[in-house]
Amino acid sequence: MRTVKVRTGGNKSYDVRIGGGLLCQAGRWNREIFPGQMAIIISNPDVDRLYGDMVRQGLEKEGFKTVSLLVAEGERHKSLDTAAKLYAGFQKARAERFTPVLALGGGVIGDLAGFVAATYMRGLPLVALPTTLLAQVDSSLGGKTAVDHGPVKNNIGVFHHPGLVIADTFTLGSLPQDEVSNGLAEVIKYGMITDRPFFNLLEKNIAGIRALEDQLIEDVVQRCVYIKARIVEKDERDNGLRNTLNFGHTIGHAIEAASDFRIKHGQAVAVGMVKASAISNRMGIFPSKDLARLKDLLLRAGLPVRMPPVDMARVLLAMDHDKKVVDGKTRFILPRRIGRVFISSDVSFALAIEVMESDNG
Ligand SMILES: NC(=O)c1ccc[n+]([C@@H]2O[C@H](COP(=O)([O-])OP(=O)(O)OC[C@H]3O[C@@H](n4cnc5c(N)ncnc54)[C@H](O)[C@@H]3O)[C@@H](O)[C@H]2O)c1
Ligand SMILES: [Zn+2]
Repeated sequence: MRTVKVRTGGNKSYDVRIGGGLLCQAGRWNREIFPGQMAIIISNPDVDRLYGDMVRQGLEKEGFKTVSLLVAEGERHKSLDTAAKLYAGFQKARAERFTPVLALGGGVIGDLAGFVAATYMRGLPLVALPTTLLAQVDSSLGGKTAVDHGPVKNNIGVFHHPGLVIADTFTLGSLPQDEVSNGLAEVIKYGMITDRPFFNLLEKNIAGIRALEDQLIEDVVQRCVYIKARIVEKDERDNGLRNTLNFGHTIGHAIEAASDFRIKHGQAVAVGMVKASAISNRMGIFPSKDLARLKDLLLRAGLPVRMPPVDMARVLLAMDHDKKVVDGKTRFILPRRIGRVFISSDVSFALAIEVMESDNG
């Protein structure tokens, strides 16, 4: 097992524990933190079928009464309507101020359960049990919780840190291959933004990582958690440095929105990273050799590098509406070279369009 400590404000911290087979320890570790009688598990039917019993048995062995609340699969259920149903479930179960809420699933369950835990009775403790690669390396860390409202994603939310994150890498074994690739987009992003040796490691081992070889995948999750933890610790409330985590997301989010979210986040971010890198390359900053390496690694990770067939007008509209627009200019995170990025407000829409319409960028 590997542990990464994440410090939050006010001298507090939580552990992210990473390793194969850790879910069966969830009961014991919860007991070490929570004295109460009850624990609530939020999951979806598919993930619950696979891993719910293991978590429940561990908790019950430690004297917790468990209440499982299941949410139908899919991003469209990450909503205020679902949150309201979960609040009703909490009420029925007589949840108390110190009842832990365990989020068992991918980022959708993590964001939703986190939001409900953060707001019910002004905040119940949260334990994250991420079961997708994306959730283990990204969404379960950093304290951002949210639901979607109207056509906009993640626009109703609140910061709420988990008390503990248990990333059981064995759970990744049941993920469909495209979900593994989806998470790998964020993994590659970490290499691009701060860690050139890690990028090299990914290049060398991408086949073994996709095959989820035990030690490799633990190494990768640990390294990503470490990188994200260090970034969010320095910028807990998302005022500056944390922006670098949005590398590939300016165009990526716009592609997702323009496809009515049919294109997966990781796939859109992969294209977004290529396009941001191509913009930087055209500005004479990012070397062509590095651009070729990025594309090659993404392709070998099972990710796209070209614009999908989406309406360009909608992509531009979405970029214009994006949170990252400040004073009328879209803010881009651009790479200088592999392992280093900077924030730029100098990218003209004309250049962004040119690069998005080009197959070579
Ligand atoms: N809070 C944050 O900082 C943050 C960061 C990034 C993304 N997000 C959010 O995360 C969400 C995306 O998360 P995701 O990519 O994990 O998608 P997801 O939660 O929809 O999971 C993807 C699919 O995998 C299934 N699944 C989950 N674990 C499984 C397992 N072990 N075996 C088999 N199937 C499994 C799920 O049922 C689902 O169908 C989005 O809502 C996004 O906004 C949040
Ligand atoms: Zn992302």
